[in-house]
Amino acid sequence: MRVVVTGVAGFIGSHLSERLLAAGHEVVGIDCFADYYERARKEQNLDKSRSHDRFHFEAADLVDADLAPLLDGADVVYHLAGQPGVRPSWGNQFDRYVRDNVIATQRLLEALKDAPIKRFVFAGSSSVYGDAEKFPTKETALPRPLSPYGVTKLAAEHLTNLYTRNFGIPAVSVRYFTVYGPRQRPDMAFSRFMQAMTAGDDIEVFGDGEQTREFTYVSDAVDGTIKASTADVVGQIFNLGGGSRVTVNQVLATLEEISGLSIRRQNLPAAPGDPRHTGASINLARERLGWEPRVSLAEGLAKQWEWFRATEPDR
Ligand code: NAD
Ligand code: UGA
Repeated sequence: MRVVVTGVAGFIGSHLSERLLAAGHEVVGIDCFADYYERARKEQNLDKSRSHDRFHFEAADLVDADLAPLLDGADVVYHLAGQPGVRPSWGNQFDRYVRDNVIATQRLLEALKDAPIKRFVFAGSSSVYGDAEKFPTKETALPRPLSPYGVTKLAAEHLTNLYTRNFGIPAVSVRYFTVYGPRQRPDMAFSRFMQAMTAGDDIEVFGDGEQTREFTYVSDAVDGTIKASTADVVGQIFNLGGGSRVTVNQVLATLEEISGLSIRRQNLPAAPGDPRHTGASINLARERLGWEPRVSLAEGLAKQWEWFRATEPDR
């Protein structure tokens, strides 16, 4: 099959691309190297995919590129390109969230209106729930984002849904819950913690550290994304969460055990936009996608630590 992965140079997109190449597909990867973090990291993320001759890379921006030739012949489109990050989405930065999450998604869907694709998978976010009323949170909960980022991810998810209803684009959305593992973005918690630990700096904890997250290992997120492209589930939305909820303080204790280093922490005020808790009901994904997260936090964190140490000289 010929598949398109947008955001292919990013954290999750690069892992997805490798998995699709290993499964024998032809992958067209699209990315514009948005400057949210260093291009060099994204180039490294692409190294393994680029070593396959079934991989074609297009350095293109979804908002202003001529998309038709890039999408020509595609069977499946995985749309992961976007502007991530909850906490920086305030103020002037909001423009880029609207641009890369809402406008980019609309342009892509427009370009696919008449294309004979079999599936479109949208990378949604747990941030659409905001401070949810119930845990674990089901997909049917009323979305009430708490951050500008969450609003743009919800808007893009709605756009995806309405192009299905109006034009029959066979789309599915997956809502990732805080993904981690090798190549995690440098702005995310585990990356920042590991960076501070190795530099001998204090770890900055936003709030009291008792907030919980449903952390999801990247290979599990990739599995669920691929399953969403084949199961008979057009028009549906699925939570993809790691299977348990832990506090940031528990993460730090696990990280001390794994690294053998002792952590110094500094508690800062809680960040605006950060939900106090996230927690996924994953029953729907279990039942309809036949998906199950497999990697525990201790195992996944150890793998990220190992990767972090091994790639330190490149940083
Ligand atoms: P990332 O920043 O590493 O990857 C996103 C990629 O998209 C980047 O390489 C960027 O250059 C590219 N991009 C951005 N705007 C683009 C545009 N207009 N045209 C072409 N390329 C563009 O982020 P990630 O953590 O891998 O996240 C991937 C997707 O998953 C995002 O849509 C994000 O909102 C979503 N998501 C991520 C998480 C997580 O925990 N990492 C959780 C929920 C949802
Ligand atoms: C992550 C991604 O960054 C978003 O792009 C994504 O959409 C979201 O998951 C999601 O699930 O939808 P977040 O949960 O904030 O967002 O992920 P982390 O940056 O890993 O933060 C996890 C927790 O650690 C948060 O409670 C945050 O406040 C805390 N944290 C983070 C700190 O205490 N200190 C830090 O330096 C960084």
